[in-house]
Amino acid sequence: MRISVCVGSSCHLKGSYDVIEGFKKLIEEYGVGNDVSLEASFCLGHCAEGVTIKLDEEIVTGLKGDNVRKVFEERVLPEVRK
Ligand code: FES
Repeated sequence: MRISVCVGSSCHLKGSYDVIEGFKKLIEEYGVGNDVSLEASFCLGHCAEGVTIKLDEEIVTGLKGDNVRKVFEERVLPEVRK
């Protein structure tokens, strides 16, 4: 799975960096670095909705430092472990 985190100016101000760091740690913690790639993305067009990411082609909004784990465990891990 590919996780793209928006680093456009609006998302950047809302904490993209924390979201990226959070995903990095979780990928390491779960040892799924071979199955999950993490990248930065330009504006995804949902600037008013909090930090926006794409999980493969699916847009997810409202990411923050403190819900990265929930999104990762509920949306990313099940896909990776299929
Ligand atoms: S800056 Fe992130 S969606 Fe626009």
